[in-house]
Amino acid sequence: MLSPSIEQTIRSLAETRPERSFYLYDPSVMAQKIADLGDNMPEGVAIYYAMKANPHVAFLETARRAGVAGVEIASLGEGRKAIEAGFAPNQIIFTGPGKSPEELDWSVAVGIRTIHVESLTEAHRLNAIAAAQGRVQDVLVRVNPNFHVHGAQANFSGDSSKLGMDQDRFRAALPEILALENLNFVGLHVYSASGVLEVSDLLKNCELVFALAAEIEDQYQGVSCSTIDFGGGFGIDYLQEGRDFAPGPYAEGLSRLISRFGFAGRRFVLELGRYLTADSGWYATEILDIKDSLGKKQVVCAGGSHHFRRPAALGINHPVSIVSMNRPKIFAGQESVDNESVFIGGPLCNTADRLSAKDVALAHAEIGDMAVFELAGAYGYSMSHLEFLSHAHPPEIVI
Ligand SMILES: Cc1ncc(COP(=O)(O)O)c(C=O)c1O
Repeated sequence: MLSPSIEQTIRSLAETRPERSFYLYDPSVMAQKIADLGDNMPEGVAIYYAMKANPHVAFLETARRAGVAGVEIASLGEGRKAIEAGFAPNQIIFTGPGKSPEELDWSVAVGIRTIHVESLTEAHRLNAIAAAQGRVQDVLVRVNPNFHVHGAQANFSGDSSKLGMDQDRFRAALPEILALENLNFVGLHVYSASGVLEVSDLLKNCELVFALAAEIEDQYQGVSCSTIDFGGGFGIDYLQEGRDFAPGPYAEGLSRLISRFGFAGRRFVLELGRYLTADSGWYATEILDIKDSLGKKQVVCAGGSHHFRRPAALGINHPVSIVSMNRPKIFAGQESVDNESVFIGGPLCNTADRLSAKDVALAHAEIGDMAVFELAGAYGYSMSHLEFLSHAHPPEIVI
């Protein structure tokens, strides 16, 4: 459900702007979430903004002003944007498979805080680059653990994966990594799943990661996992089932685990993307046509999956609202939607161009109204295939 003020903003933008589709962002929602997390999280937890969720400068600047510890980047391009938005290099951490030699070289040269190596090859490559620059680089090793997180929208662990080193291989390879003179091992990165709504599932993940850190420290005397990075994973209730992720109980549970494992004094990193930005954004697009096809209404919008790819790509519906525009009719017999389940898509010449993964029940819609997709602030614009068919890109409008 749109708030009256967002509905009014979208209506007046649709009336006044030339574009028929746009993203609307309200980063103050993000600022509030960062403030709440800061108030709740136990000592030692550092919140980083995973800027892949939304690299728009307004979100970077909001995150910085709201006091995040820094930014998690996944490319050199993101690193440059983070610095342009005012983050210091030592506020940047870099995770992601297949970092190029140029990306590693830049990271060491500017002095980012930690690089999270994802393979033995990457450790050796980074070591050589750091040696050539006469530096020692702090690293975490990203581990693909032997477990899954229940109830996640996407699981990144427990299977053959390009992300991180398999847990058993990591344990065997650690002495080789420790022997690399230009790397300083400071801990583990284990990001197991995205879009988790149940606090207990994510806490189980933290517990298993803590157990892994403790085992490694037992196995290799003198080795300390002084930083433990859990990646992202706080979910968003896209299906509006009343299952919003509850950061308070998560913080309490994490605090209990820190005490139980005797891990006070360490640094715990959360790289949050979706949770911080999803509800700060809306994708709005004009309904250009409504037609009946074999008994089902096809709602065709000015923008499609090239603007907002997430529902089609991930098979998840976002909440949809219709903002009534009362535009003049094109002809007397034109169709409308009245209490029906409809297909909503865009102007692309394929049936994969859908703005909702499944048909959507709408109370009413007319040609000329705006279809608004909520929770579109994360993995929206930047995850879409904007060049397809050479349509115009939607503007990103910040309140
Ligand atoms: C390494 C890493 N960290 C953090 C995130 C952010 O995850 P989320 O948006 O679930 O918070 C991602 C997302 O893919 C990631 O790959």
